Amino acid sequence: MVDLLNLQKFFIERHLREGGIAVDFTMGNGHDTEFLCKRVGDSGRVYAFDIQKNAYLATEARLTEHNLIDRCTLILDSHSNAERYITGEINAGVFNLGWLPGSGNKALTTKRETTLPAVRFSVSHLSQDGILLIAVYPGHEEGKAEGEEIAAYLSSLDRRVYCVSRFQILNSPTSPYFMITEKKEELS
Ligand SMILES: C[S@@+](CC[C@H](N)C(=O)[O-])C[C@H]1O[C@@H](n2cnc3c(N)ncnc32)[C@H](O)[C@@H]1O
Repeated sequence: MVDLLNLQKFFIERHLREGGIAVDFTMGNGHDTEFLCKRVGDSGRVYAFDIQKNAYLATEARLTEHNLIDRCTLILDSHSNAERYITGEINAGVFNLGWLPGSGNKALTTKRETTLPAVRFSVSHLSQDGILLIAVYPGHEEGKAEGEEIAAYLSSLDRRVYCVSRFQILNSPTSPYFMITEKKEELS
């Protein structure tokens, strides 16, 4: 059976190496941040965003427990302000949209008006051979609309520069799916 989470890691591992720069645009409980920190090693850097203090604290505790905290810059701010914190190129970016698992506060879900600017920022900062992965939860109204708007934007990208694809369980349309954007390497 297709395991979407393993598939996500499979793609990121092909683009993110020791010494790389990665961004977790939605840190939540820090599972993705932890994975990215392990991947970039001691010489790399991970930036992680969330607007909820609970998420920040949960991720800080997770990274401290796994001795990874020195590899990460935790940012308590909206990913739509990413340009204030990140100036260089990104080898891998991850958006895991929706609300903080276990928080009960579904009002603090990601929203189109802030997600779209952050997605545009991340695409424009991808390095050659960089990857952006966006997991969408279409089982609720905002998640469905958010996924459709992101897909429309990504579909408009120049295919000579980016390769955009989507992974979805076709016979379960409300299940989560993800899109990846890979920036092609320039031919010399
Ligand atoms: C599905 S959770 C992320 C799960 C996380 N990646 C993990 O591994 O546990 C989505 C997170 O996005 C956060 N979020 C919502 N709006 C945001 C924004 N504008 N900027 C940054 N994070 C945001 C929520 O607070 C929530 O913690």
